[in-house]
Amino acid sequence: MRGLIKAAVVFALAAGGFANFGPVNAGEDLPAGVTVVKAPAAKGGPLAEILSGWGSRSKSTQQLQQDDFENPGYLWVDKGETLWNTVDGKAGKSCATCHDDASVSMKGVGAAMPKWDAKLGRPMTLEQRVNACRTDNMEAKEWKWESDQMLSMTAYVKNQSRGMPVNVQADGPMEPWVKRGKELYYTRVGQLNMSCANCHEANYGKFIRADYLSQGQSNGFPTYRLKWQKVGSLHRRFKGCMKNIRAKPYKRGSDEFVAMEIYLAQRGKGLQVESPAVRN
Ligand code: HEC
Ligand code: HEC
Repeated sequence: MRGLIKAAVVFALAAGGFANFGPVNAGEDLPAGVTVVKAPAAKGGPLAEILSGWGSRSKSTQQLQQDDFENPGYLWVDKGETLWNTVDGKAGKSCATCHDDASVSMKGVGAAMPKWDAKLGRPMTLEQRVNACRTDNMEAKEWKWESDQMLSMTAYVKNQSRGMPVNVQADGPMEPWVKRGKELYYTRVGQLNMSCANCHEANYGKFIRADYLSQGQSNGFPTYRLKWQKVGSLHRRFKGCMKNIRAKPYKRGSDEFVAMEIYLAQRGKGLQVESPAVRN
C-alpha cells in the first residue's frame, strides 16, 4: 500500500522543467522591494544555487507580489501597524511605547529570526519574541500562533526587513539547533516515507500535481497563500507539507519546527526577506 501511494506521488513528479524558473536578478520581474531571488550557494552546501519560491510561481501569482497595492498580504501588514500602536494589557503600553518607530527599531530584526535568547538559553522565533513582550512587558495575553493578530504583527515586523538578506545566526549556541533541523529535514517520515529533501532538494523545478516544486525556502513568510485566502505562518506550511506525506505534523512553535525554521533560514542565506510573499 505504502509503495503504491508513494509511486503515485513520485511519478507525478514528471520532469519537464519550466521556462520561467529562476528569473535573473537584475532587471525586470522581481518581487516588489527585492533585488535578489537567486543566489550562489555556499561551497559544500547541498544546493547548486539558492532560489526563492518566487521563481516557481505563475506569472499571475508573481504579479500580485510585484505591486504592494495588489498584494493581499498588505492587509495584514496594515493591521499589524495598527496593533503596533494600540495600547493593550495591564501595563497600559503599546509596542510603540517602547520600540517607537518600527521602520527604525525593527529594521533587520525579522531578517535575523529566530534569535538566540541568552536569558532563556534557547532560540526564539519572532512569534515567541512578540508573545514574550506581550506577557513580560505589557502584561497582556499571549496571541495564538495562527491568530489574525499574530500573523498581522509578524507580517508587519518582517516587512520592515524586506529586501534585506536573511541573516540568521548559525554558529555558537545555535549550532545544535541547526544540526537538529538538518536531521529533521533529511529524515523520511509518514506513510509516504519521504523527507523534505526528497521534494525540495532532489526534485525542485519539477511539476508535482498542479504545482511547481520550489526549494521550500522560508524567506517569504508570513506568506499570503491563494489556497488559504489569507496570510499563514511558516509553521502552518510545515504542517501542510507533513500532512501531504501523511506524517503526523509537529506542533506550531515546537522545538522541532523551531529547529527546522533555523535550518531553513541558514540554508536560504543569500536570499532576501520578501514578507509578505504571495504563493498559490
Ligand atoms: C515595556 C517595553 C516593551 C514593550 C511594551 C514591548 N517591548 Fe518588545 N522588547 C522590549 C525589550 C526591553 C526588548 C529586548 C529584550 C531582551 O533583549 O531581553 C524587546 C525586544 C523585542 C523584539 C526583538 C528585538 C531584537 O532586536 O531582536 C521584538 C521583535 C519585539 N520586542 C517586539 C515587540 C512587539 C511586537 C511589541 C508589542 C506587541 C513589543 N515588543 C512590546 C521592550 C518592550
Ligand atoms: C511530496 C513533496 C513535498 C515534501 C516531502 C515536502 N514538501 Fe514542502 N512543498 C511541497 C509543495 C508542492 C509546495 C508548494 C510549491 C512549492 O513552493 O514548492 C511546498 C512548499 C513548501 C514551502 C513554501 C515555499 C515558499 O516559497 O513559499 C516550504 C517552506 C516547505 N514546503 C517546507 C517543507 C519542509 C520543511 C518539508 C519537510 C517537513 C517539506 N516542505 C516537505 C511539497 C513537499
